[in-house]
Amino acid sequence: MASKLTPFLFRGTPRALRQLQRAQWRPFSAFTASRSDSLMVHRDTPVNNPSIPFKFTPQNEELIKEILSRYPSQYKKAAVMPLLDLGQRQHGFTSISVMNEVAKILEMPPMRVYEVATFYTMYNRNPVGKFHVQVCTTTPCMLRDSDAVWKACKDYLGIQNGETTKDGIFTLLEVECLGACANAPMVQINDDYYEDLTYDTTVSLLKALRHAAQATGAQPGEAGKGAVTGDDGNVKSGNDINEQGQAYEAGGVKVPTPGPLSGRKSCEPAAGLTTLTGEPWGNEMLRKDGAL
Ligand code: FES
Repeated sequence: MASKLTPFLFRGTPRALRQLQRAQWRPFSAFTASRSDSLMVHRDTPVNNPSIPFKFTPQNEELIKEILSRYPSQYKKAAVMPLLDLGQRQHGFTSISVMNEVAKILEMPPMRVYEVATFYTMYNRNPVGKFHVQVCTTTPCMLRDSDAVWKACKDYLGIQNGETTKDGIFTLLEVECLGACANAPMVQINDDYYEDLTYDTTVSLLKALRHAAQATGAQPGEAGKGAVTGDDGNVKSGNDINEQGQAYEAGGVKVPTPGPLSGRKSCEPAAGLTTLTGEPWGNEMLRKDGAL
């Protein structure tokens, strides 16, 4: 009997051992996972801890009333995102005190607010520079050389991803698609999009913003407060400048208009119009029999 079993043992054992050694799982991707460098948990710091008081300004309290009026009173927690945004605009970043104040106003557990603030990357949970430079490096931008834009930012600012310049003027961040692929490569700076960039135009843009910030008295402590004040005394925002179609002056420095810096208008074809270039068709072009 033993002599009959011996060949099976010799043949079967190595195969069984091989199967035991083989991992019983497969990775979904062959690439190394790239993890975010920002902690999803809060750590108290001197500039961001719950003992730092935060209250909305009277002007923002009026805005909050208006926002809350859009929702049924039993669902006012639905306003958590606009209120966090308002807090970030007022304070410069979404600190733990901002989150706690929002939770108090909306009568919701602070943890629910923390969950929202840590999920959406638009909420900066740490101080950022006066200009938050977010460089898109997703495929359409990458194909039109976002590497050059990214390099220009790192070369000119002398900082790496996620860092803030010593003067507190710029914070640099690499981000995913910002939805302006037709004008790739592009960066978002605070609320403005600057598009069709090259290495040189990126450097000139950053230089202009730095000069404008210095000329209008930016202080390191003003991190995240965002906009530049123009020579007319008004805070400048991209959209209304775009309507006028011209750059604005701040501290005597000409800051480029948000939008494409290549000279093309909006996202029209870079090489000129390719369709609808002739006279539009009339009815007679569609049907000769007069049925239409
Ligand atoms: S890929 Fe850069 S804006 Fe879409």
